[in-house]
Amino acid sequence: MPRFFAMTSRGLVDVLADELKEIGMERVLKAPGGCFFDSNWAGCYRANLRLRTATRVVLPILDFPAYKPDELYNNIRKHDFTKYIGADATMAVDAVVKDCGLFKDQRFVAMKIKDAVVDQFREKFDVRPDVDAKNPDLQIVVRAMSNRFAVSIDTTGEPMFKRGYRTGVVPAHLKEHVAAGLVKMSEWKKDRTIVDPMCGSGTILIEAALMALEVAPGTLRRRFAFQRLTGFQKAEWERELEAAIAEEKEELPFKFYGYDVDREAIKIARENARKAGVDDVIEFERTAFETLDAPAEKGIMIVNPPFGERLLEKNEAIEVYKNLAFLLKQKFKGWEAYVLSGDPELSKAMKLKATRKFPVYNGTIECRLLKYEMF
Ligand SMILES: C[S@@+](CC[C@H](N)C(=O)[O-])C[C@H]1O[C@@H](n2cnc3c(N)ncnc32)[C@H](O)[C@@H]1O
Repeated sequence: MPRFFAMTSRGLVDVLADELKEIGMERVLKAPGGCFFDSNWAGCYRANLRLRTATRVVLPILDFPAYKPDELYNNIRKHDFTKYIGADATMAVDAVVKDCGLFKDQRFVAMKIKDAVVDQFREKFDVRPDVDAKNPDLQIVVRAMSNRFAVSIDTTGEPMFKRGYRTGVVPAHLKEHVAAGLVKMSEWKKDRTIVDPMCGSGTILIEAALMALEVAPGTLRRRFAFQRLTGFQKAEWERELEAAIAEEKEELPFKFYGYDVDREAIKIARENARKAGVDDVIEFERTAFETLDAPAEKGIMIVNPPFGERLLEKNEAIEVYKNLAFLLKQKFKGWEAYVLSGDPELSKAMKLKATRKFPVYNGTIECRLLKYEMF
C-alpha cells in the first residue's frame, strides 16, 4: 500500500493527525511539517477532498543523500518517472534547498532533476515532456536539507487552502487551513453558535460553517493534480466525491455571527460565504465589537484581532485587546473565547487568565490561541 505525506503549517500537525484518523487513514505518523499515512489511491483522493488543515498531499518516492550533481542526477535516474505521465504531458520541479554544501542554487537543483527525468523519457520514447512551471501535469516536489534529498510526487495541485470561495481579501486575513485549525483546536462540537467579532473576510466562520454542514472542502474545487497522473482511477474518485456530497447537511439548529467595523470587509465576507454556499447559516453585520451583545445565551467566540505591527498600530491593538476583555466580562458570561495572539504584550493587556494555550503559526508569525472561560 502506498505511503503518502500530508503537509501542513507549523502548529497544525496534531489536528491534522486527528483528521487523518477520522477519515480512516492508517499508520498515521506525525513528522515536522505534516503526517505520513498509509492508504490506497482512493484514500489519497479522500484526503485531498476532505482534509481541512492540510495544504498538500504528496507521494514520497525517493530519499537519498547527494553531495555532487552527478549523485543527484543518478539517484533520480534510478526511479522510473515514465509511469506517472505520458511523454506528451508537461512537468515541473519545485525545489527548496537548505544547507546543502555545493547545492547553493535551488534552480540548479531543479534543473538537474528535470534533466534526469527528461532523459528517461527521451531514452524510452524518443520524445520528452515539456516544462510548464505554472500548470504542469506532473509536479515533482523536492525538499533538501543538509544534503538529504526527499523527492515526492504532488497529488494536490493548487494548495488545499485555495478552496475556491475567496472572492476578495482583507489585510492580514487567515489562510483557510489555519482558520480551520483554530476551529478544530477550540474543541467545538458543531453543536453551538460561534461568534467572530472581528471577522474580516469571514474565514473562521466560513470554515466552521463548512464543518457544521459536513461539506468537504475539496467539493468546492474538484480539481486536483492526481486527476492528471497516469493510472488515475476515475470511478474511485467519483465514488469518493459522491460519498462526501451524500453526507452534506442542508440546515443547522443554530447560526454563526460575524462582525467587523470595516464595511468593505463585511461585503467581502458575505460574498465569500455565498460562494462557499454557507450564506444561509452566517449573519454578517457591520458593527464595532465594542457595541455588541451576545447573540445567544451560550456559545464560542473565536477571534483573530489586529496584530498591530507598527508602534502606533500596536498601541491601538492594545486598546482592542483591552476592550475585547471588557466585552467578554460584561456581555459574554457563560461563553468560551479563543483569542489568537501574535504578541504576548497584547494578550497580557486583557488581564484575563487563559485556561489553555495552543501554539500555532499564522504565516511566519508565531502565535498562541488562548482559551478563556467566562464562567
Ligand atoms: C486580523 S483581521 C481579521 C482577519 C480575518 N480573520 C480573516 O481571515 O479575514 C482583524 C479585523 O478586525 C477588524 N477590527 C478592528 N477593530 C475593530 C472593531 N473595533 N470592531 C470590529 N472589528 C474591528 C478589522 O477591520 C479587521 O478586519
